[in-house]
Amino acid sequence: MTEKPPVSIFGLGYVGLTFAATLASRGFKVVGYDIDEGKLELIKRGKSPFYEPGLEELLAKAVSDGNLTVTRDPGEAVAGTDATFITVGTPEGLDGRADLTQLHSALKDLGKGLANKRSWHLVVIRSTVPPGTSRSAAKLLEEMTGKRCGVDFGLCMNPEFLREGNAVEDNLNPDRVVIGECDKRSGDFLEGFYKAFLGERLPPILRTSLENAELIKYANNAFLAMKISFINMIANLCERIPYADVEEVARGIGLDKRIGPYFLKAGLGWGGSCFPKDLKALLRVGEDVGVDLPLVRATVEVNERQPYKAVEFAERALGDLRGKRVAVLGLAFKPNTDDMRGAVSIKIVNKLVEKGAVVVVYDPKAMPNAKRIFGDKVEYAESALDAIRGADCAIFVTEWDEFKSLKLGEVAKLMKNPIIIDGRRIFDPRTIPPTVKYYAIGLGWR
Ligand SMILES: NC(=O)c1ccc[n+]([C@@H]2O[C@H](COP(=O)([O-])OP(=O)(O)OC[C@H]3O[C@@H](n4cnc5c(N)ncnc54)[C@H](O)[C@@H]3O)[C@@H](O)[C@H]2O)c1
Repeated sequence: MTEKPPVSIFGLGYVGLTFAATLASRGFKVVGYDIDEGKLELIKRGKSPFYEPGLEELLAKAVSDGNLTVTRDPGEAVAGTDATFITVGTPEGLDGRADLTQLHSALKDLGKGLANKRSWHLVVIRSTVPPGTSRSAAKLLEEMTGKRCGVDFGLCMNPEFLREGNAVEDNLNPDRVVIGECDKRSGDFLEGFYKAFLGERLPPILRTSLENAELIKYANNAFLAMKISFINMIANLCERIPYADVEEVARGIGLDKRIGPYFLKAGLGWGGSCFPKDLKALLRVGEDVGVDLPLVRATVEVNERQPYKAVEFAERALGDLRGKRVAVLGLAFKPNTDDMRGAVSIKIVNKLVEKGAVVVVYDPKAMPNAKRIFGDKVEYAESALDAIRGADCAIFVTEWDEFKSLKLGEVAKLMKNPIIIDGRRIFDPRTIPPTVKYYAIGLGWR
């Protein structure tokens, strides 16, 4: 293997494009392919189709340096590179199973290129896929090309663990690299590739079977989601216990080294493009092999109810919501992204609208996506203060830094009713001005 082998990436979404740009920033030659021609046009001009901190700068440089190019021809992408990473979407299917349509179509395109290739080529599945999928992909490619996996081409399953909003940094500083391999040569190649990419920042590398790599990704997400659902369950208990506060309880248990402080922030539930669909897919995997996964089921159940806490608080404060003006602040599923896939704000806004409230929404980055989702069901504000002005109640749904700096005393003056619902524990309860009626997740009555 040359020190920095040229690679192609199929699927230039949040995962693929960030990976492409960070690789190119480290001097790799990267060829990107996506079926979405609009996306390719934007990327060609160094523009990102979505918001991710630091990405646009890297992308512009990668394109102008000539390290990142895009193509409409998947065959050309395979021919000109030594390895292809597949980073297409694996969304939730109708029955909760992972929908592998994008993966199958990418494999078909890749297979055509592979059939014409004389030299060995590595296929790397980086998308999150259920156990058994990568081995089936190898078989499909063998049938399509007449070549043998492990001899004429290689295949690895290399799950991605990045966090949106921190994706560039996570790509450059991963906690570990998991390499599921169909044969030693494939694993050796990918290990060498990561050594060249990450250099001194190389984390532990775990080499294992394709199925273990697939399962590690699902188990990882299920465990993280379980930690959040656990603390949300404790938060709901704290609310009913005078003088209790889940923030203090979480701090106390997080100091136990066996538990750790991360993913113990109580709130309105987890959302996004990964946890919801991955936990459902994992439950289906269990069902398919006849194994019940009760902790995963409970993790999902707790989370399905949690967003509605915001509406319960609003009703507790205002009674009937019909005709009440409710500001919803923060729509992206987490801060520092414009991604609204699976965002809890969608459930909250829809429920408020259903109850007859007049809803006005604001998010620092996700307004274009919000307009596509909510249409004319809601009003759109230009800023947080604009949303809050004249409102009967303000619900904070995403913990953007911009919201943390709001002075609640000033905010209260703008509101019709100074009712603040803190769905993410943004504000310190000890500093709430007496003019504000403050409700927060996990804060016991005082
Ligand atoms: N988004 C995350 O935070 C994250 C983190 C870890 C893992 N993952 C996993 O990574 C995978 C990709 O996630 P994402 O958020 O980047 O998805 P995405 O929907 O943002 O991007 C997928 C891209 O693939 C393209 N595509 C679809 N079919 C294609 C084909 N046949 N050939 C080439 N391109 C094709 C789409 O046009 C799109 O641009 C998923 O399996 C996801 O579960 C995502």
